[in-house]
Amino acid sequence: MITESCFSVDCWSLKETPLRLELLPQSESVFALSNGHLGWRGNLDEGEPHGIPGSYLNGFYETHPLPYAEGGYGYPESGQTAINVTNGKVLRLLVGDEPFDLRYGRLHRHERTLDLRAGLLRRHCEWTSPAGSTVRVHSTRLVSFTQRAIAAVAYEVEAVDAPVRVVVQSELIANEQLPPVSGDPRAAASLKSPLEPEENRASGNRLLLVHSTRRSKLRIATAAGHTVDGPPGTRTSSESTADVARLTVTAQLAVGEKLRIEKMVAYGWSSMRSLPAVRDQVEAALAAAGSTGWEGLVEDQRAYLEHFWARSDVEVDGDDELQQAVRFALFHVLQAGARAEQRAIPGKGLTGTGYDGHTFWDTETFVLPLLTYTSPGAVVEALRWRQSTLPAARDRARQLGLRGAAFPWRTIDGSECSAYWPAGTAAFHINADIADSVIRYVSATGDEDFARNSGVELLVETARLWMSLGHHDHRGAFHIDGVTGPDEYSAIVNDNTYTNLMAARNLRGAAQAVDRYPDEAAALGADDREATSWRTAAESMHIPYNEDLGVHEQHAGSTDRQPWDFAATRPDQYPLMLNFPYFDIYRKQVVKQADLVLAMYTCGDCFDAEHKSRNFGYYESFTVRDSSLSACCQAVIAAEVGQQRMAYEYAVEAAFIDLNDLHMNTRDGLHIASLAGTWMALVGGFGGMRHNEDTLTFVPRLPEKLSRLAFHIYIWGRCLRVEITEGDATYVMLAGEPMSICHHGDVIMLVTGSPTRCPIPDTPAQPSPKRPPNCWPGQGSPRRE
Ligand code: BGC
Repeated sequence: MITESCFSVDCWSLKETPLRLELLPQSESVFALSNGHLGWRGNLDEGEPHGIPGSYLNGFYETHPLPYAEGGYGYPESGQTAINVTNGKVLRLLVGDEPFDLRYGRLHRHERTLDLRAGLLRRHCEWTSPAGSTVRVHSTRLVSFTQRAIAAVAYEVEAVDAPVRVVVQSELIANEQLPPVSGDPRAAASLKSPLEPEENRASGNRLLLVHSTRRSKLRIATAAGHTVDGPPGTRTSSESTADVARLTVTAQLAVGEKLRIEKMVAYGWSSMRSLPAVRDQVEAALAAAGSTGWEGLVEDQRAYLEHFWARSDVEVDGDDELQQAVRFALFHVLQAGARAEQRAIPGKGLTGTGYDGHTFWDTETFVLPLLTYTSPGAVVEALRWRQSTLPAARDRARQLGLRGAAFPWRTIDGSECSAYWPAGTAAFHINADIADSVIRYVSATGDEDFARNSGVELLVETARLWMSLGHHDHRGAFHIDGVTGPDEYSAIVNDNTYTNLMAARNLRGAAQAVDRYPDEAAALGADDREATSWRTAAESMHIPYNEDLGVHEQHAGSTDRQPWDFAATRPDQYPLMLNFPYFDIYRKQVVKQADLVLAMYTCGDCFDAEHKSRNFGYYESFTVRDSSLSACCQAVIAAEVGQQRMAYEYAVEAAFIDLNDLHMNTRDGLHIASLAGTWMALVGGFGGMRHNEDTLTFVPRLPEKLSRLAFHIYIWGRCLRVEITEGDATYVMLAGEPMSICHHGDVIMLVTGSPTRCPIPDTPAQPSPKRPPNCWPGQGSPRRE
């Protein structure tokens, strides 16, 4: 955990000063740059010291056998792991005759800044070598949003107080040696030297390496081009071997003189294209970037981000640290999804190989809602990727004896990779989460083309799954037994309320799609009769309820289980899954992450206000938030039930999950769902925004700590700006036809350009629900409180 803040507070950047070597693994994740296609961890330019070197390409992985002590029918046989691809970041530096290595010599200054508006990582340092030569190093790095194959670095060395000879070795390195992996199951499987060399070349200032993976048979090419600007006498040479291509630049610097190298790196990969085709692809990408030039790339990056911030910024007054964390979160969500283009958005984005680089329900439930109302184009890409994996999902359903499609719990290429079926295959709710994203996206954008050509198929096939997974009892009630809901501390349960409610939405949405697009439905063999059966199942969906307690059950019988002995659980025994056997956890009442509480957000209409309040109080006392996906959901419902202070604490926890390394695994990559959940906590929580088919409602209420919150929502072809202060909310339609919204229960007509100000009613003070001891939000966080 990061127990004292290493970043200075600034609303539009993240500055680390000084360098903390022991926190390199975490800061490499925090300073990672990515565009959703290509990701570079924030490793130091010189390559070492490092925590975990990392360069990733979305969808590029190696397979490995999944070992089982006791196998079983339907267990996935093969795992997938995102691999560290060719490292194009490295520029090693020799000062006099000593390597520039911050573990030696004297570091006078070291500053790294992630500029959220420019999309650049800047670094300034001044260092004296053990032999007494002082140099200044400045570097600026980007992963381009506008040219998705391209990353680039401008690297500058300056002699400070005496002439010095410097040598810079700019490299492409494949099969880097990686530090050993931890025993934490959330980390990645390590694969040693996963890349087989196919071609290497160095000619003039250009470098090339082509490799392929042994088992998954994917081919990657990496090319680099350089512009060198040094004093007269600066010399360059280049060479390559199977795993390293290198440009060496030697310069004699007088005091104040600089050597500047601009390095552009192009990446490409394919499962199908030939070696010459992939090689030419990266050479072409490099040529395009070269014609744009370094300055051009920098300008394009800023313009791209200007557009992004204009649509997606969330302004927070009253807490500068939170403002910074929110923008940091939004920036990383953008980086994870911006140019994924029909590939998955992994749980860690492209910032590390935690969870093996897999994609989970995190994408549909946490990331896509934010993108739906701000960057809907990225949602289409993500859902079309799901659609492209339907053949594997249909096969998986067949293998499990089910109908329709069973999407994988965790995957890179669409096939199930979870070797632990109680928290993998059994988490069927992912199918309803995908369906929910389709319904939300179509309803928010009215995208007919997507609804017809992708939506119907996704909805129909997931609806079929529920019909074969569930059953009607003798009274007609529909049950879904033996599944795992969002809370992974209860597994293989009957009638998980979240799953059942989301499945009902899936079934209704599919039936509607059949009505709307009968031809497309017919092509899938779906007709009115089938749609009627879906509606009937949805209407008769069983929702377990405990009459005595007056609360909804997370699953049938959940409230009867023995409560977890929190008093006997020491603070260092969290997360529970690393310290207690699942056998024990599964039998008791203890909640890893919001489950019923999440259902009250995603299916809010199914609960009245009194139940929301009572349910929230009940589940608070069992929820330990061992998953980073929990706090943001708790924030939204806490705000809805009038617990603004708690909501604020949870929103802060979601936002600071990585800046403070609250789960102590930021080294393995950022928690993209929690970062996206920050938006959910602010907009859904304090903005009280709910979008339900053709209604858009707001129930804004700020917590005491915030004096203003403002954001934009793109919906139904309109752009709406919402600004909330302590006493009122102002709604302005910036573009589009008039539309109505609901504010605290009142219907309001909005017309473009005329702001409407609405008062916010007082919230009656309420006693706070109890939390489990030792589970207070943001535990250990260095934030001022
Ligand atoms: C959570 C899952 C989540 C996964 C990846 C687990 O700890 O319980 O809900 O999908 O992490 O973020």
